[in-house]
This record gives sequence, structure tokens and C-alpha cells, in this order.
Amino acid sequence: MLRDKHILVGVTGSIAAYKAAMLVRALVKGGAEVKIVMTPLAKEFITPLTLATLAKNPILVDFFNPENGEWNSHVSLGEWADAYVIAPATANTLAKMAHGIADNLLLTTYLSARCPVFVAPAMDLDMYAHVTTCQNIAMLRSHGVHIIEPEEGELASGLSGKGRMAEADEIAACLSSFFEKEMTLQGKRFLVTAGPTVEAIDPVRYISNHSTGKMGYAIATELASRGAEVILVSGPVSLPVPTGVRRVDVVSAKEMFEASMAAFADVDGAVMCAAVADYTPANPENSKIKRKDDIVLQLKPTKDIAAELGRVKGEKLLIGFALETDNEETNAKGKLERKNLDYVVLNSLRDEGAGFGVDTNKITVIGRDGTAIAYPLESKAQAASHIVSLVENFFKK
Ligand code: C5P
Repeated sequence: MLRDKHILVGVTGSIAAYKAAMLVRALVKGGAEVKIVMTPLAKEFITPLTLATLAKNPILVDFFNPENGEWNSHVSLGEWADAYVIAPATANTLAKMAHGIADNLLLTTYLSARCPVFVAPAMDLDMYAHVTTCQNIAMLRSHGVHIIEPEEGELASGLSGKGRMAEADEIAACLSSFFEKEMTLQGKRFLVTAGPTVEAIDPVRYISNHSTGKMGYAIATELASRGAEVILVSGPVSLPVPTGVRRVDVVSAKEMFEASMAAFADVDGAVMCAAVADYTPANPENSKIKRKDDIVLQLKPTKDIAAELGRVKGEKLLIGFALETDNEETNAKGKLERKNLDYVVLNSLRDEGAGFGVDTNKITVIGRDGTAIAYPLESKAQAASHIVSLVENFFKK
């Protein structure tokens, strides 16, 4: 999968720089053409001679060659590369990347690269766990950078913990599987809704549900990894924005309705995974409700987003979810009809390992013609890949 790919490797100043030699070897062995850019400090950890010999290309460090004034163009390096992998990536380089600092060739190349970018962080466990590093990594992820997680283990400091750079073979495999994924949904756009909605009772209390957004986020991730453009309308959850996905944050069912309607005009299809509140307080109070005897909370129905999209969908693909506790299949089929869905994905709270919060799900996908495919208990990522394969088939027709 790496054959004839142009891989630009960035090396920063970390003890793990010695592993860059193994990485370059693995990439070259896999058939890739490799160029290397180093930070000035990286040269203290591994010699340019070693890396240049393995890459069969000269190493680039400076903006220009002081001997003859030849310019090392970061723009053309970025254009040349099919992927840019920075391994090892120090806390310093990650911070600079997150904030647009461009004081060396490795960083200017990052800012001008149009290709997918991968980073393999390497640092001491406390540096890796520091809130600033965590925020920088989260920011890079939301900018579409692929993070190759470090491993737990013995560190150069003598301490043991998370921060050891992923092994060279693992980084090469990660790149290889990235290129392996066929971009079957390139040029297609999708709306995905995910997470719960939160309906205010007063400024302090609310009505919500146990949804954590994991299923919807897995679907958004899978759609994006097959080349689709994804708008993820998300209720409040504590998950990072998946790579390559545009997230629109909403709180209430009303906000989710408005954001979804606005996004739907411009997409080829939608997967409605959010656990939208069916009712919202009819008269939310502006001030905190004081304790008294019994109170009656009047609720009014929210708008059914999936049903409204079903009404206006035309030729677009619309997939909904049905989380049931009883009469599962009948209820799910009812929703498919009522909301004018093309497919309904049923999961039952009666199945162990399915539903809220967990990383697994057990889904049955029901089509308009009544055909039902039941999948075994599997990870939400695997369940997402079945659903996205369905999306793929829909557009093959
Ligand atoms: O009727 P029920 O809420 O179980 O329907 C579930 C499906 O409808 C899910 O796809 C959910 O995201 C969607 N839905 C919606 N707007 C609502 C309620 C449900 O989009 N107000």
C-alpha cells in the first residue's frame, strides 16, 4: 500500500529520534519514496548521514543552503508529499503546530502541507499528561491531524508510563492502512446527529438522557475515513472531534433541529444517531425554581428532526436509529415508515453490551423492503463500518 507513495518524514529533537531510522527503513522497504525534514535539535539525536542514507535522499533542516543560497521550499515539499508523518513529535513541536508557530522548516512545511498529517508524540509521561499538551493534541486532532498514540512503557527518564513513541512498524502500518482505505465516498457530504439534547427547566436544572455520542461519532469517523465530508451536529458530549469532521455544537432539541435543517440542504444523506428529547419544558423559568411542595412540570413535544428531514428528503439517503426496550422490530419498522427513512438501525436495551455509554453495540439494520440484517455484538467502530458500507451501496445504485 506504500508503493510509490511520497512520504515526508519530520524528525524532532527527542531521544526517540533513533526510531526514525527504523521508520524510514520500513517505509522505503514498503516501496515509498521518502524525504526527511529535521529540526535543528533533532540533528543532535540522530545524524543526517544515517537518515539520508536510509532515505536515499538528502536531509532538509534549514530554510536555505548557506553555501549557495539554494532555497529549501516548504511549499513544494508539502505539495510533493502524499503524507507527512512527524515522528517523533516533541511536546514543543506539537504546541507550535497547534498554534501556528513556524520558526523552522519542519513547521513551515506543516503549515503549507495540503496532504494528511500524522504525528507520533514522544515525551516523558508527565509532559504527555500535562493539561497543555492534552489541549494541544486535542486541538491538532480537531484540525484534522492524525494522532498515533504513544505507548505505555519504560521511558528515557527511567520512569514508566505513557509517552513512549509508537514503534516504527506500527507507524508504517498506520500509514499503510490509511492508504488502503478506499475513498469510496469522496465528493459526498453527510449530516450526522449525535449525543443527547439538554432541555432547560430553569437556569440550573435540565432534562436529558444517558447518550454519550459514541455511536454517532463512530459513524462520523467512518464516513470521513472513506473520503466523505461530514457535518456532525452534536449535543453536549465529552468526545474529541473526529479527524476530518466539522462539528456543530448544539444544546437543545430546538437548536439541533435548526442546525440539522440548515445542514441538510447541502448534503447527500443523513444518519440520525442523536438521542433527541421528545419533550421539553413548556415554560422554562428564567430564575431558579425554589423548593416548595409538589410541583407540576408541563412538557411540550419537540419537533421530530428525522421525520421533518424525511418529509423533505427527496432522493437523499436518510438513516435513523431506534433504541427500543420492547416490541423492538415492530417499533423500529413503525419508525422507518413514519419518518420516511431508507434504513432504520435497531438496538435494544435488552441486549447486554448494547446501548448507552458502552463501546459495543448489537445492531439490526432494517431496510424499506423489510429485510433485516442482524449483526453480532461488536465494537461501535465495527457497527459503524457496517452502516457506512450500506451508505456506500446506496450510492453505487
Ligand atoms: O422516535 P424515536 O425518538 O425513538 O426515533 C429515533 C430516531 O429519530 C433516531 O434516529 C433519532 O435521532 C431521531 N429523532 C429525531 N428527532 C427527534 C426524535 C428522534 O431526529 N425529536
